[in-house]
Amino acid sequence: MVKQYVSKNTWAPGIFDGKVVFCTGGAGDICSGQVEALVSLGANAVILGRRQEATQKRASEIAAIRPGAQVLGLGGIDVRSVQALEGAVATTIEKLGRIDFVICGAAGNFLSTVENLSANAFKSVIDIDLLGSYNTVKATLAEVKKRKGRYLFVSATMHYTGMPYQSHAIAAKAAIDALSGALSIELGPYGVTSNTLAPGPIAGTEGMARLAQASQLDKLTRNIPLQRMGEVSDIADATVFLFSPAANWITGTGIVVDGGAWRRQSNH
Ligand code: HXC
Repeated sequence: MVKQYVSKNTWAPGIFDGKVVFCTGGAGDICSGQVEALVSLGANAVILGRRQEATQKRASEIAAIRPGAQVLGLGGIDVRSVQALEGAVATTIEKLGRIDFVICGAAGNFLSTVENLSANAFKSVIDIDLLGSYNTVKATLAEVKKRKGRYLFVSATMHYTGMPYQSHAIAAKAAIDALSGALSIELGPYGVTSNTLAPGPIAGTEGMARLAQASQLDKLTRNIPLQRMGEVSDIADATVFLFSPAANWITGTGIVVDGGAWRRQSNH
C-alpha cells in the first residue's frame, strides 16, 4: 500500500508541478517520506542510495503516489564519491531535465564510546554525513543555480547539548549546520537558499532502531514536551513548507521538528 506522508488538507495539489527533487539517502525512512510528499504535490524526483534493489523499489513506491509521476531510483551511489554524484546529476538532467530541490540526507550512525571508536569509524561517519553533503552540493550546484533552487540538509539536535556515544555523528551534524549557513551567504546572491531540518526521534525508522532500545521508548516519549514520538509525516510537512513559495525568504536557518524534545534532551 502506498503511504501518504503529507497533510492533504494543508498543501495545495500541484504546488511543485514541473520541479525536480534530487535526494541522497533517498531510500531511507525519513528521506523517502520527504520525497514522497513533494512528489504527491507535483514534483518529479531522483533518489540515490548505496543499495541498488532497495533504492529502486522505494522509487517505484514513491512514483505510485501520483499518476504520471517520474521517480528514478539510482542505486550503487556512495556520497563519498563526487564522481558518482556527478554521474547521477548527468542522468537526472538527461531523464528529468533539471534540478530544483536538493535534499542532503545520506547519513551513517551507530552508538560507540569514544574509546571504542576507531579513527576510521569516526572518519567513515564524517565522510558520509559531512563530506557527502559537500560532494552533493559540488555535483549539483551548477544545475541548482540555473533554477534558483534550494538546498535542504537533514541535520539533528544532538550537538545542541552534546550526547554520549555519538561523537562522530555530533561532530558531523554540527559541521553540516555550519556548511549550510556558509552556503546561504555565498549562494544567496544567486537566488539559491540553504537550510537545515533537524528531526527529533521518529518512530519506526532505522535511525531509532540503531540509537534507542525498545525498552527506552516509553521514557523517551514521556520526556518529549508534546508527549509523542515523531512521524515521518511531521518531517515531510516541514520539508514541503521549506520548498514551497511560503519559504521564499528563508535561508541560512534551520527548523527543528522534534515535539520540543531537544530542550529536555538527557546527557545521561
Ligand atoms: C564501532 C563501528 C561500528 C559500531 C562500524 N564501525 N560499525 N565501530 N561500533 N557499531 C567501524 C568499523 O569497524 C570500521 O572501522 C568503520 O566503522 C567503517 O565501517 P564499515 O562497515 O567499513 O563502513 P561502511 O560500510 O562505510 O559503513 C558506514 C557505517 C554504517 C556508518 C559504519 O553503519 C552504515 O553504512 N550506515 C548507514 C546507515 C545508517 O547508519 N543509518 C542510520 C542513520 S541514523 P575499522 O577501524 O574497523 O576499519 C542517523 C540519525 C542521526 O543518522 C540523528 C539521530 C537523532
